[in-house]
Amino acid sequence: MSNFVLFPGPFLYITKVSNHSEIKDSIVSFIKDHARGEIDSPVEKAYSSYYNDENQFSDFMITNSFLTDIIWDPMDSMLRQMPFEIRSPVNNSNVTELWYQYYKTGGHHKEHTHSNCTFSGIYILHSTEPNKTIFFGNGAANQGYQRFTHDTHYLTEGHVILFPSEMYHKVMPNEHERMVISFNIKSR
Ligand SMILES: [Fe+2]
Repeated sequence: MSNFVLFPGPFLYITKVSNHSEIKDSIVSFIKDHARGEIDSPVEKAYSSYYNDENQFSDFMITNSFLTDIIWDPMDSMLRQMPFEIRSPVNNSNVTELWYQYYKTGGHHKEHTHSNCTFSGIYILHSTEPNKTIFFGNGAANQGYQRFTHDTHYLTEGHVILFPSEMYHKVMPNEHERMVISFNIKSR
């Protein structure tokens, strides 16, 4: 018998949107039309529809039935393949927030978590450079015994990353224009 009891911990589930090339152009043109200015704070530099959007972006995504491809199919396969026991089937999950981040040269986002939800996701909609999202395995600072980070530089556009919402992550400065769609999911 082992002296250790291991609990399910932080994880990333990475998959690809099957029809990325078909849906990309339509979403990119919505964003180019919709984005206004840029937030430039110590925490983030990007245009984020998280603020003052009045649901225009999520209405657009729902009207065009894009949520199946970028959220529910990936969620379904994640839950089917989960390597530990889970309580929440996908049909008890809701999207609580859906927004886009439009980064230009130098755009970034400091360490943060997503609150009041269970899982979060990032869909890399448009990118021409190594992906800039870095995840922290054990909180922002990391404990001395577990300095674990994961750099997702190898991911290209079309990928979706799902993760437990309490995981810290950050976006390093982008060299070129980059767009991602982010979402929060509450599971009961
Ligand atoms: Fe985030």
